[in-house]
Parts: sequence; structure tokens; C-alpha cells
Amino acid sequence: MEDTPGPISTVRRRWFDATPHGKQGVTERYVVYGESRRWLLGQLNLKNTDFVLDLGSGHGFLAYELASRTGSKIVGLDLLGGEQMGTAARGGILAGLSKAIDWVVGDASKAPFSAGTFDTIVSFLGLEDVHITGGVGAMDKVIRESARVLKSDGTLAIADNTFPECASNAGQRLYLEILRKELGAQLPSKSSLIETMEGSGFEDIETATYDPKIILDEREAHIELSDIAEAEPFGKHLDIEEIWERYGDRVRKSGLEYPLILLLSARKSS
Ligand SMILES: C[S@@+](CC[C@H](N)C(=O)[O-])C[C@H]1O[C@@H](n2cnc3c(N)ncnc32)[C@H](O)[C@@H]1O
Repeated sequence: MEDTPGPISTVRRRWFDATPHGKQGVTERYVVYGESRRWLLGQLNLKNTDFVLDLGSGHGFLAYELASRTGSKIVGLDLLGGEQMGTAARGGILAGLSKAIDWVVGDASKAPFSAGTFDTIVSFLGLEDVHITGGVGAMDKVIRESARVLKSDGTLAIADNTFPECASNAGQRLYLEILRKELGAQLPSKSSLIETMEGSGFEDIETATYDPKIILDEREAHIELSDIAEAEPFGKHLDIEEIWERYGDRVRKSGLEYPLILLLSARKSS
């Protein structure tokens, strides 16, 4: 897969090299993700003086893009420390970004920061697990916490692919159905999140969508669903063979496709 040469491509390359044979295609797609992290950055108006919080920073790929393309100072917050955060931090060092990014273990619904700390809060696919980890109502808490730790006039930008509106065809609908039924992962509707944002002191709410155009063939879909089945960190263990039994025929008929990415951005009122 094409990649712009540079430190981040070195990190990506290391990921691909470490991926078991046969899984490369799926890993490459996740790491590069149809360039949707760059699309997200293009939607934001970040200045190099901004202090930015990345909610659900995971393996760090959005944080790397944020730090390298904007020059901003970034904090990556994730519920999981341990191996995942270690990998993110090592990737940051490899990309020459260790001074630009701090990695913090913590819950986005109880953010371990003082009020009015950040200019911008961004999240890329960071909140799809919030229902699993925090139960119903967790997303509302994340929005309220974001309002608290943002400065006045600061920006909140949440980009995710598990809003009900993220399915525009049968392959995307199937992907979301599997996440919802098997993992209990689904974000509230766009309108309900907009209402929560308005109730938490946000205004100028805007939305945008991006289609990563990632369509999985049957073999790739099996790998993808195996990865989803290994949701151990969140206390779930699914049997891939049972999942394939339930959905394999439909995957063969409609294909499995990554859902659309929906971005909701808003400004904290002054
Ligand atoms: C799909 S990954 C994130 C991807 C990452 N933003 C990227 O660009 O590659 C989702 C991450 O959200 C984290 N997460 C889930 N619930 C969270 C919460 N309540 N607070 C902070 N992080 C959370 C998970 O631990 C996981 O690492």
C-alpha cells in the first residue's frame, strides 16, 4: 500500500513487518485506514501552538499524524496502558515524536486533567468501545468531561464509524450489525449526540462524512472478524467459528465493508 516516505511510514512499515503472514492486508488497511486520519486532520484548524487531547489514542496512529502534521503538543489518553501504550510510545520514539506526545492511561469519561486545559480534543474511532467499558450513558459523560477540560472556544471533534448513520450499503450494515449484536458496540445516533453536545455547552456543531472505501473479501472478512472476536481487554471473548457460522453466508452475499466515518465537531461556548 502506498505511503508517503517519512518517520510515520517507518512506524507503519515496522507494524506490517511484525504482522503474521496472511494478516498483512488487513493490518495495512487498519494502520493506513484509507487515509481517513489525514482527512480528519484536514477538517480541523489546528495551530502549532495548540494543546491537543487525543481520546482513545490506542496504538497511536492519530497522535502521530496530529504531532507530525501540525507541530501541536499532544496528549494521548487511553483506558489501556500496558503493551498497547508501550507500542504507541515506542512508535512515537521511532517517528521522532516522543517530545511532542505524552501518553496517559485514563478514562475519557473521568479525564484526569484540570478544567480548561486543552485547545482541542480529537478522537478517531476512540469511543466505539465506550458503551462496552462504561455502559449506557458513558458517551454523555465523555462529552461533559470534554467540555470541562477544554478551554472556552476550544474544539471537540469526534470521528467514529459506529454511529447508526455510518452504514450506507449492505456490507457496511452487516459490519455494524456484527459489532452491535456480538460486542454491544454502538454509539448513539447523530441527533442524540448533537443534543448532548448542545446540553453540555457546545455550539457551532458541524458534521462531515468520509468513506474509507475498504471492502473486505471473504478471507479478509474472516481475519477482521477474528480480530474483533479477540476483544479480551474488554472482558469479551467471542468464538470466531460461531460468528462465522452466524454471518459467513451473508458475508459471502453482501461482502463486509468498513462503515463510513462520521465526524461531529463543535466549539465550546465562551
Ligand atoms: C480503535 S482504538 C483507537 C484508534 C486510534 N485512535 C487510532 O487512530 O488508531 C480504540 C481505543 O479506545 C480506547 N478506549 C475505549 N474506551 C475508552 C475510554 N472510556 N477512555 C479512554 N480510552 C478508551 C480503547 O482502549 C482503544 O485503545
